[in-house]
Amino acid sequence: AIDISSLRGESGVITIDPGFKNTGSTTSAITFLDGEKGILRYRGYSIEELAEKSNFLEVAYLLIYGELPDKATYDKFVSDITMHTLVHEDVKKILEGFPSTAHPMGVLSSLVCAQTAFYPASLDPNRSATEVDMSIIRLIAKMPTFAAWSYKNQIGHPVNYPDNNLNYTANFLKMMFATPAEEYEVDPVVANALDKLLILHADHEQNCSTSTVRVVGSSHASMYASISAGINALWGPLHGGANQAVIEMLENIRKDGGDTKKWMAKAKDKNDPFRLMGFGHRVYKNFDPRAKIIKKAADDVLAKLGVKDPVLDIAKGLEEEALNDPYFVERKLYPNVDFYSGIIYRALGIPTDMFTVMFAMGRLPGWIAQWKEMRENKEPIGRPRQVYTGANQRPYVGMDKR
Ligand code: ACO
Repeated sequence: AIDISSLRGESGVITIDPGFKNTGSTTSAITFLDGEKGILRYRGYSIEELAEKSNFLEVAYLLIYGELPDKATYDKFVSDITMHTLVHEDVKKILEGFPSTAHPMGVLSSLVCAQTAFYPASLDPNRSATEVDMSIIRLIAKMPTFAAWSYKNQIGHPVNYPDNNLNYTANFLKMMFATPAEEYEVDPVVANALDKLLILHADHEQNCSTSTVRVVGSSHASMYASISAGINALWGPLHGGANQAVIEMLENIRKDGGDTKKWMAKAKDKNDPFRLMGFGHRVYKNFDPRAKIIKKAADDVLAKLGVKDPVLDIAKGLEEEALNDPYFVERKLYPNVDFYSGIIYRALGIPTDMFTVMFAMGRLPGWIAQWKEMRENKEPIGRPRQVYTGANQRPYVGMDKR
């Protein structure tokens, strides 16, 4: 039996809501999401319009500072970011400490957290607005460098330094793929597709990783430490890690002979832990607007690059079946952003282990915007309550009597 008095917190009765399915943790002016209607807007601008007309750095500015920048402000923002792409040379020593078996997400979160050592002023809870702006610029600028280096470490290649003559995504691609052995030319189709993917991932209100960033930041931890925690939250297969899990699942289905019906049955079997990765969403109960844009982009990119990927057909087959299956229809399970993103990443030549890192690069401006908003609104420390269900008070039992 639960002692009712233990349900009373300082501010009244405690509600239990596992997974925070119906609990708002904050007010926010950054991202609007209507799960029933499939609407997603950043600062009031629709995701469809931003994906078509804007670019990732402009969207980053919009999310973080609240308005689209005028030309001079935009140019300065981009130029500041370009000037900070280089990372401290000692970061290479940290990188070298990781075995090549290290997953790039673990390396990425470590390198981001390590920035607290290179920029100790960021630790000061009373940091100035200028210091916050510098952390923002440094994080956005260095993230592609950390991401590309985490991959180079994995494959045992020397790292590439940033090329500031290139734009944000082109610079990342060159750091990822150029080798001392051969020339590397960035394909504009690949760079543009990547830029669009980053926009689509840039924010998604109070999801698992963003809530993590806000909760860690609420203890007045530095932006680097908070975002490093967000990267770890994103890593799990129920969140950002789903994009890697989707491709692995599609590959398994292909190797298994492509029998989608068999795998659908597995997903519906309550005695089988298997879930159809890339399906379902805590908030979208009609369709995920990002998935719609990505599905179309996947078709375009594969056509432009002349790639024929057999898993795309399996993905389309699964989607078709799920849309007509009562189990999926009743539970409102539709493809989410991760269902088709892996197929594009693959077509762009991004290795599977790097998919979630790509998500983290995209989500970075959202995490920053949410951290900044939380601190500017002077939100209290995040500290949920609980209902204790353990043993009542009991005397200590000596080792000889157990
Ligand atoms: N395959 C099969 N059944 C599913 C799936 C799925 N992908 N997703 C949910 N269900 C079922 C559950 O078993 C449950 O069934 P029940 O009512 O019979 O018990 C019902 O649908 C509701 O699912 P919950 O897990 O309660 O929903 P929740 O909101 O907690 O979870 C989540 C949402 C984590 C996204 C879930 O749908 C899932 O695990 N999907 C697969 C992983 C995935 O694609 N994650 C990426 C999400 S998007 C993102 O983070 C960027």
